[in-house]
Amino acid sequence: MTIKNYDIKDISLAEQGRGRVEWALEEMPVIQSIMKRFQKERPLEGVKISACLHITTETVNLARTLKMGGADIVLTASNPLSTQDDAAAALVAIYEIPTFSIKGESNEVYYQHINAALDHHPHITMDDGADLVSMIHKNRANQVPEIIGGTEETTTGVIRLRAMANDGALKFPVIAVNDALTKHLFDNRYGTGQSTIDGIIRATNILLAGKIFTVAGYGWCSRGIAMRAKGHGANVIVTEINPLKALEAKMDGFRVMPMSEAAPISDIICTSTGNKNVLDVHHFEIMKDNCCIANSGHFNVEINIPALEKMAVQKHIPRTSVEEYKLSDGRTIRLLGEGRLVNLAAAEGHPAAVMDMSFANQAMCAVYMNQNAGNLEHKVYPVPEDIDEEISRYKLEAMGTKIDILTDEQVKYLNSWEEGT
Ligand code: ADE
Repeated sequence: MTIKNYDIKDISLAEQGRGRVEWALEEMPVIQSIMKRFQKERPLEGVKISACLHITTETVNLARTLKMGGADIVLTASNPLSTQDDAAAALVAIYEIPTFSIKGESNEVYYQHINAALDHHPHITMDDGADLVSMIHKNRANQVPEIIGGTEETTTGVIRLRAMANDGALKFPVIAVNDALTKHLFDNRYGTGQSTIDGIIRATNILLAGKIFTVAGYGWCSRGIAMRAKGHGANVIVTEINPLKALEAKMDGFRVMPMSEAAPISDIICTSTGNKNVLDVHHFEIMKDNCCIANSGHFNVEINIPALEKMAVQKHIPRTSVEEYKLSDGRTIRLLGEGRLVNLAAAEGHPAAVMDMSFANQAMCAVYMNQNAGNLEHKVYPVPEDIDEEISRYKLEAMGTKIDILTDEQVKYLNSWEEGT
């Protein structure tokens, strides 16, 4: 092993990590094809990339791909609880990619690791939640001239970056990978849907059938959670602040009501809104005894945990990933995964088959950013449409699914305004 600079939990986990990384790769045919192309074409030769992503087996396969393309990459975690320590060990010992991430690291170590990744002096930043971009803009502005641009993986990160761009504060271009159709329609909906339910079940082992399950929000992630909870036989309630999304939830067959009405009757409440204090003191005061609360939005602010800590007269950990807060009136509230992304804290995050498309977007956008170095403004850019289309075509082909092709007559019909009834 040639790598000296890294900080991970236990290097001896590397072989276990390799096995799981290879397993994940089997479900990532688009990434496999990009790996082959990158090895031949080396489109990222000499490009330094710092990536702040959840350190999972799927992320290892993205990092390997970028390295095969010639990139000089380092990785840090985008959440203190999401690291798979065996994947981190494989990154360092087997794939020789410097990595700074330990599952359960303190906030202080989390930011030390972000700084260590930025000491790499990247040309491209790759974020899941905008932490690298934020750190550069707040504390390391001297690095801005070295940076070609960044990519952003998640909804919350894109919202922050757009706010920066609107204020004229963004100092380099960023591509909103999240907004690609081959990303959010699949990763956010089916990935978050399945992995959130997986996290809640692994944490609690409770039966969902017959339970009242409330989902806060009806964006792409929340609708995935609601759909899968319904599939398990739960009676699903959706809470929303947006009338259009509330209407969609209603017509998708869910009960819609304010959280103040949902809290007293719910057995499980999962937030996925991108906002703060969605579950707050006035909800804790009326929640059903033994209600399980979890979050699947990016940051750990959706549940007001400091307030819950203050209200509690006793705290107890009955099983991994569950903290029970006993209140003075005798009720108990069960917090899952410390209020952090429950799908990564208590389970393994999205399955590889969806990360395949999300990370294909990341790899292709890194190449696009490099090819357009110096030509982009300091804005948030969408993923180019041809990248989205190529990924969807390739994924379908890999799934063995063929689709129809327009006839010449149909092309002509679609392009004419004269042919009518
Ligand atoms: N975000 C959600 N699931 C993930 C995964 N499996 N790997 C990386 N990032 C993720």
